[in-house]
Amino acid sequence: MTKPIKKIVFPVAGLGTRFLPATKAIPKEMLPVLDKPLIQYAVEEALEAGIDQIMLVTGRNKQVMEDHFDHAYELEKILQEKGKAEALEISRSMLLPEGSISYVRQMRPRGLGHAIWCARHFVNGDPFAVSLPDDLIKGKPGTLKQMIEAYNEVGGNFVATMDVAREDTSKYGVITPGARNGNMIEVKGLVEKPHPEDAPSTEAVVGRYILQPEVMDHLAAKEIGAGGEIQLTDAMAKLIGEQPFHALNFEGTRFDCGSKIGWLTANIAMASEDPSLAARLKEAIGQL
Ligand code: UTP
Repeated sequence: MTKPIKKIVFPVAGLGTRFLPATKAIPKEMLPVLDKPLIQYAVEEALEAGIDQIMLVTGRNKQVMEDHFDHAYELEKILQEKGKAEALEISRSMLLPEGSISYVRQMRPRGLGHAIWCARHFVNGDPFAVSLPDDLIKGKPGTLKQMIEAYNEVGGNFVATMDVAREDTSKYGVITPGARNGNMIEVKGLVEKPHPEDAPSTEAVVGRYILQPEVMDHLAAKEIGAGGEIQLTDAMAKLIGEQPFHALNFEGTRFDCGSKIGWLTANIAMASEDPSLAARLKEAIGQL
């Protein structure tokens, strides 16, 4: 019997240097794609997957995310007085049951692995999901739901993967693939940001994970990895051989919204599917 996945950790303490100056005073995770911030897409994906305990690992300048998941009394009062029922409903749509979101501070940005380790008391011995909100994935069902369905069959650890061009492997964690079963791939090794000539495959990890709590024991060692940071990939690699470990080549389209081109493409892709915008967007782009 696998233990159900009810908890998720969103590491959102990164500096977002690729998006400066936009991210100087606002978190990267609050950048909107159309009218919703990235963190909202990510939380909605988790809720769709049946997850109901959420932790954000934040840092300085990230308090605005707490406000996003809380009442905005002044706004709500004015909308009520003006009879703007639809706007009021939208402004309240991210009010989750009280106590279901908690926050912890990563006091220094020491890497993704360190951010996850900061959530160890929340994880408290349970298997959990991790999602990086700047990886926006459009898919039906959402990627986390696809992963939890696969996890419920075989248990253990999961990473979401996609096939990338070989020259791009140095931007990702890359798996050494074993046996394949449909879109589920056994993971025999994991390496962070390999040079194309050294990459064990072109199956690259994107920001969705299901992890067993033992990963915290490996993260506690605080080993410094690629880029001088404490890497989640290194701790996950240590689980291989100790526990089942699979990749799910998910169905969906992923946008790297931590990069300008990925964020722009995500906006255009979402707008192209919105009947109130699609025709006007096409016309506007045609005029550029
Ligand atoms: P990135 O590698 O995208 O780093 O982090 P970043 O700082 O957010 O952005 P750039 O590269 O400077 O533009 C991947 C994920 O890990 C989180 C980030 O918030 C993001 O969700 N992270 C990274 C932390 O929470 N803490 C860290 O110390 C590093």
